[in-house]
Amino acid sequence: QTGLFTYDPGFTSTASCTSKITYIDGDAGILLYRGYPIEQLAEKCDFLEVCYLLLKGELPNGGEMKGFVTNISQHVMVHEQLSRFYSGFRRDAHPMAILVGVVGALSAFYHDVMDINSKEDRYISAIRLIAKMPNLVAMCYKYSIGMPFIYPKRKLGYAENFLRMMMGDPGDDYLANPVLVRALDRILILHADHEQNASTSTVRLAGSSGANPYACVAAGIACLWGAAHGGANEAVLNMLAQIGDVSRIGEYVNKAKDKNDPFRLMGFGHRVYKNYDPRAKLMRETCHEVLNELNLHDDKMFKLAMELERIALEDPYFVERKLYPNVDFYSGIVLRALGIPTEMFTAIFAMARSVGWIAQWDEMISDPEMKIGRPRQLYQGVTARDVKYISGR
Ligand code: SDX
Repeated sequence: QTGLFTYDPGFTSTASCTSKITYIDGDAGILLYRGYPIEQLAEKCDFLEVCYLLLKGELPNGGEMKGFVTNISQHVMVHEQLSRFYSGFRRDAHPMAILVGVVGALSAFYHDVMDINSKEDRYISAIRLIAKMPNLVAMCYKYSIGMPFIYPKRKLGYAENFLRMMMGDPGDDYLANPVLVRALDRILILHADHEQNASTSTVRLAGSSGANPYACVAAGIACLWGAAHGGANEAVLNMLAQIGDVSRIGEYVNKAKDKNDPFRLMGFGHRVYKNYDPRAKLMRETCHEVLNELNLHDDKMFKLAMELERIALEDPYFVERKLYPNVDFYSGIVLRALGIPTEMFTAIFAMARSVGWIAQWDEMISDPEMKIGRPRQLYQGVTARDVKYISGR
């Protein structure tokens, strides 16, 4: 649907935004990428096919996909001088702090060779970003544990290449479990785009000034980091660790209901979905597939999560407010089962969402009506007054 929509965070402002990329019906729990239901894409496509769809508007045929994969494979390497940025960070720096820095720094290597008004240049920027994100994200982890970076293999699939760069050892061949590779690929599909969420709106607003795409995506990464947004998957695992045992779930559910307590159930609720997040259902299935494959169904954290979900879904407070588990509730459990450390979860979300950010940025820049974003405000301060009346001066 195109047209006006209205935010209502306590005051009314209208922000007009039209897009042809992603459609959400929050009440019905529907999510479409370029008209295709997320359920079908998650089942029948891989992440790079979905990237092509989001960028081009159509799913690729065989030849188009072959060309796209070749394009991506040609740009997976990262400039050696950019690799040196990592050594400027403390080893315990949060991966999102590093990612904001290194993705923004891509501007220093490519912005002067691209014209944002050129469709071809915008497309190659998208290819570069999609291709390099797995490498940049995996390097955050390798740097944090003092291990050498592992170069990508151009012949490997997207998710498998990432797992190898992230979990592999320079001295050994990394043999990825195909069930885990498929699980990660599905996580990337489910997080690829989501209409005008906070981080995508940040990228659009930054891009409306004409800033280069890498700087705009770095702004999106900064916004995604927040626990109310992309940081929720990391916050879910921290919350489950804090709850610790099924006997304490009631205590935390009551804290979440207490208006005087800032605690919220991480992974529950959504600004738009007032029904089950369709991605959460798919993520829950993936969760069971991975735990079956790894024989982790007795995993204490998973059992705690399932019991918390059951209790919350029966609690009148959550039922009345239509608070359901969102995609982040399960994605963290899957990533943990894949052996990925909690602090890397949001960086992986950023890796997936990069295609949505750049597709939305491209759509905005190519809109002839596009003007610099300039939201207004409802001023609630004091009315005009003169300095001379300040008593005692
Ligand atoms: C993402 O926008 C996107 O599309 C984002 C995203 C994407 O793909 O880009 O989907 C990714 O950000 C998913 C959301 C991840 N965040 C979390 O899981 C953090 C926990 N969730 C909450 O912080 C909260 O649900 C929000 C921020 C997501 C939404 O908050 P809202 O807009 O206040 O939710 P609401 O209007 O539906 O709230 C209705 C009521 C309120 O109480 P009352 O004033 O009616 O008494 O429900 C309460 C809220 O206080 N509420 C919660 C709650 N979420 C809402 N109470 C307890 N725990 C919660 N998690």
